[in-house]
Amino acid sequence: MDREIDHAEALLAGLLERRSVSPKRLCAPGPGLDKLDLILQAALRAPDHGALQPWRVIEFRADERDALANCLEQEKLRRDPLASDKDLQRAREHALRPPVLLGFVVMPRERCKVPLREQWLAAGAALGNLLNAAHLLGFGAIMLSGERCFDTVLLRQLRVQPHESLAGFISIGSIAQAAPPARPVLPAQVWSCWIPELPPSSAAPAQENHDADGGHPGT
Ligand SMILES: Cc1cc2nc3c(=O)[nH]c(=O)nc-3n(C[C@H](O)[C@H](O)[C@H](O)COP(=O)(O)O)c2cc1C
Repeated sequence: MDREIDHAEALLAGLLERRSVSPKRLCAPGPGLDKLDLILQAALRAPDHGALQPWRVIEFRADERDALANCLEQEKLRRDPLASDKDLQRAREHALRPPVLLGFVVMPRERCKVPLREQWLAAGAALGNLLNAAHLLGFGAIMLSGERCFDTVLLRQLRVQPHESLAGFISIGSIAQAAPPARPVLPAQVWSCWIPELPPSSAAPAQENHDADGGHPGT
């Protein structure tokens, strides 16, 4: 039993070290098809109300990266007709640099008993699992969105349908240079305990600050 706990804690310790790794810090090789398949299996294991799978990924393979770079360069020029050569090169690099590049598309179903916000949450949970799986397999990964994700011409070029949203691009690769360590996060920032309201008969003054929720149980 103790060994099982040690194993679980070691797995969790690995997960707690996850950081997003900028494309500049990534190098080849990225995950091959078998690893990418595993990563997507993990994404598909995320909680998903109604098993709607309200998301999909578009893989941009090596042979198509130049064409994608042209699309991103044109998008940059639409947004900023005065963009410098350096800006345009940077736009192209979004397509050319990552060893593996995925578009993450959210496709919520309208007129469905599962509310839209839950479908977006399910898509976000899948994204989290995807990034965690890449990390646990030893790769660096990051999700980046930006204004390009709202450009209707680019969306049409990528065949993102009108009822879908391009949430962002996921870069995955080997880690050439580790990301700086994460700032420590404290569960107390997100953790409180509920205390029922006092009945009106009890004359205790109402508290307005957040502590009225009872504070968090970590203290
Ligand atoms: C949907 C989504 C879109 C994001 N888009 C951007 C972006 O365009 N630019 C950016 O710098 N970070 C973006 N981020 C944040 C990074 O992916 C990353 O989470 C953040 O830099 C924090 O790093 P960490 O994951 O190591 O904590 C986005 C995150 C999510 C979930």
